[in-house]
Amino acid sequence: MNILLTGGAGYIGSHVAAPLVSAGHHVVCFDNLSNSDPSVMERLEAITGQPVPLVTGDIRNGDALREVMLGHAIEAVIHFAGLKAVGESVAEPMKYYDNNVRGTLSLLEAMADCGAKTLVFSSSATVYGQPQYLPLDENHPTSATNPYGRTKLMIEEMLADVAAADPEWRIAILRYFNPVGAHDSGLIGENPNGVPNNLMPFIGRVAAGRLKELSVFGNDYDTPDGTGVRDYIHVVDLADGHVAALDAIAKTNQPLSIWNLGTGTGYSVLDMVKAFERVNGVPIPFRIAPRRDGDVASCFASPERAARELGWTAERDLDAMCSSSWRFEHMLATRNAD
Ligand code: NAD
Ligand code: UFG
Repeated sequence: MNILLTGGAGYIGSHVAAPLVSAGHHVVCFDNLSNSDPSVMERLEAITGQPVPLVTGDIRNGDALREVMLGHAIEAVIHFAGLKAVGESVAEPMKYYDNNVRGTLSLLEAMADCGAKTLVFSSSATVYGQPQYLPLDENHPTSATNPYGRTKLMIEEMLADVAAADPEWRIAILRYFNPVGAHDSGLIGENPNGVPNNLMPFIGRVAAGRLKELSVFGNDYDTPDGTGVRDYIHVVDLADGHVAALDAIAKTNQPLSIWNLGTGTGYSVLDMVKAFERVNGVPIPFRIAPRRDGDVASCFASPERAARELGWTAERDLDAMCSSSWRFEHMLATRNAD
């Protein structure tokens, strides 16, 4: 298939490009580089053994999208492009509604115009809001606690309306839990601009000596060790989940499908710190800090629907998540030293 990856130069998009190219698909990345570096394409080429084209453009520009989609005879789109910082979305909500919601509408219009009605969308477990029961299955009620989450929810609702209005669409909504880790090669991984918001890239930078210590946000939650529990999923497993979802919607006659992509297992912040130290032999200094606004005690998936319907389950363990993250930090350190 000819597949367009919006946001394909980003953390998750670049990891999904690799198995798609290896499976023989023609992949084109479309990214405005607002949160990524074009050098990722060279590293992707080193992994796949072939160049992966990058078109620099913004999903809010419908003409640019139509040009690339017609030029490459695009048949399916995997839509990663979006802004994802929760705190920033609270401070600048319009930026999030514009980029994420308007951007997705612009993409859907371009896809309809070009007759490409197969779409995989990057949603998030954030759409479950405060968990009412665990593990979270796809039928758990949805709600949003911040503008970022609301953009994901609004897009999900928009996609449901589009699929209901025109049964030619084949849409997969993938609700990611906490993607971490890096490609086995250590060549691509998560490298956020500025100080990381998320746990694993923060731990990586503390390990590398780029940040002094980790602040553990709260140790008085109702969890085994008092720190927050999450469902961390290796990004390479997550990437394989996309390939499985794309295969599934190519065969189904259902216009809309929703799958959780998680492992079903929760680990605490201190579990993550200890695992990183043990696997990589590096100390992670930390201190206990107050709870972070908006955090929940525990959040983990029921991965059963994906296992049943996609034949996909996450295979990589915590050790693989920690060792690959560290390999990627090393690659960055070596590159910066050059
Ligand atoms: P990322 O920031 O690394 O990648 C997103 C990419 O989209 C970036 O390369 C950015 O430059 C690009 N982009 C943003 N706005 C754009 C626009 N208007 N036009 C074109 N390109 C644009 O983030 P990621 O972690 O790879 O996340 C990918 C998707 O998965 C996002 O939609 C995110 O909300 C979702 N998601 C991520 C996580 C996570 O923890 N990483 C969890 C749940 C859901
Ligand atoms: N944490 C710390 N210190 C840090 C960063 C995080 O203790 O410096 C803790 C948090 O309090 C939480 C856990 O580590 O208990 C995980 O936090 P992350 O920020 O890595 O991830 P979240 O679960 O808060 O949120 C992530 C994405 C959201 C997405 C959600 C579900 O940031 O966008 O996963 O997919 F919605």
